[in-house]
Amino acid sequence: MSLQGKHILIGISAGIAAYKIPFLVRLLKKSGAEVQIIMTPSSLGFVTPLTLSTLSQRPVLIEPFNQETGQWNSHVELSLWADAMIIAPATANTMAKMVTGITDNLLLATYLSARSQVFIAPTMDLDMYQHPVTQENIGKLRKMGHILLEPNTGELASGLEGAGRMQEPEEIFQVLNDFFEKKKSLSHLKILISAGPTFEKIDPVRFIGNHSTGKMGISLCKVFANLDAEVQLISGPGVPEINHQRIKQTKVTTADDMLRECEKHFPSSDITIMAAAIADFKPKNISDKKIKKGNNPPVIELIPTPDVLFNLGKQKKEHQLLIGFALETDQEMEHAKQKLERKNLDFIVLNSLRDSGSGFGFDTNQITIIDKNGSTKVFPLKSKDMVANDILDHALEMFQKKLVV
Ligand code: CTP
Repeated sequence: MSLQGKHILIGISAGIAAYKIPFLVRLLKKSGAEVQIIMTPSSLGFVTPLTLSTLSQRPVLIEPFNQETGQWNSHVELSLWADAMIIAPATANTMAKMVTGITDNLLLATYLSARSQVFIAPTMDLDMYQHPVTQENIGKLRKMGHILLEPNTGELASGLEGAGRMQEPEEIFQVLNDFFEKKKSLSHLKILISAGPTFEKIDPVRFIGNHSTGKMGISLCKVFANLDAEVQLISGPGVPEINHQRIKQTKVTTADDMLRECEKHFPSSDITIMAAAIADFKPKNISDKKIKKGNNPPVIELIPTPDVLFNLGKQKKEHQLLIGFALETDQEMEHAKQKLERKNLDFIVLNSLRDSGSGFGFDTNQITIIDKNGSTKVFPLKSKDMVANDILDHALEMFQKKLVV
């Protein structure tokens, strides 16, 4: 394990678990990382800056401005320096301030300017941790894309038993190490992702569309891009503009546009994920004038649109990974397996509209991953960002196996 040359910013807030941070600093330094520590003023009673600066070989920063030396500690420079920022221990108070954007100390100002991945290791007493406000704040921090290191369960400093113990330095070190390992293997990969609905024109005012919002596809783009992969997003109508250095976005309207753009980028793509809800039919003829009510309702003849995934499946090369989604309402497994085979996919992500919390517009999703080798993995209901992480892990594992074979 090596974190040679990585810049790790550790933010310490006032929890008793701060006494474990010197051990984390030692592990990081031993593996070659540079460590900069920022402490909140109220954390100073839990561990001494002298211990931390000795181990990190850098002065510990506490205030934005040091009255004695006249030194200005720029939160912007600190955040630009960091390859990763970890807030450990993260108290309920610090997390509440992070959620609301309060910047009344150097740690919080640096957090708000953070450009790198942020890790948060909460620690507190059982009841504080279980309080709905704390849980809501943790949910919001997760939604912002931060990685939460679930506290362990056990004896707490108060004498109570339960969840609230900060993860051990070895566990935190492992999480950071896994993150940089994943980043290393993704930074040279090209990912093609489609998201959102497609619209097919009936006349100048009407179209055939569907309820897709593109949330799942956007979550996928972000988890890959945050790990440095080069992402090309092809998005349908209504999908918001994504502002991310590693994501290029092309907007399309119809299934034919989607096919054209996907075929353009597919040959150079390593991993392709079709999360778009593409219309299966389009009107045979588009009326150039608004269709009037008249006496009889019009009969609109429909013809099939191209199946983008099927076409990509035919062009797929041995080293490429092709992933589809299946949204089903009945005989889910059977239908999904048929699609997996017919479209020549490596795996298919099944979500059923029968599962509550899954489907269009929800922030959560419950998925089952079915592999071409027949194995099936059922995941619990999770936020779409966490689902995207599960899909990324599965895709990466399969992609690396392809390289080895
Ligand atoms: N898909 C596609 N082109 C289409 C329709 C679907 O590329 N014209 C892709 C979707 O992006 C998804 C997968 O195929 O990844 C399955 O989509 P789904 O709508 O579940 O299945 P269909 O193949 O359209 O079959 P049906 O509607 O009959 O269930």
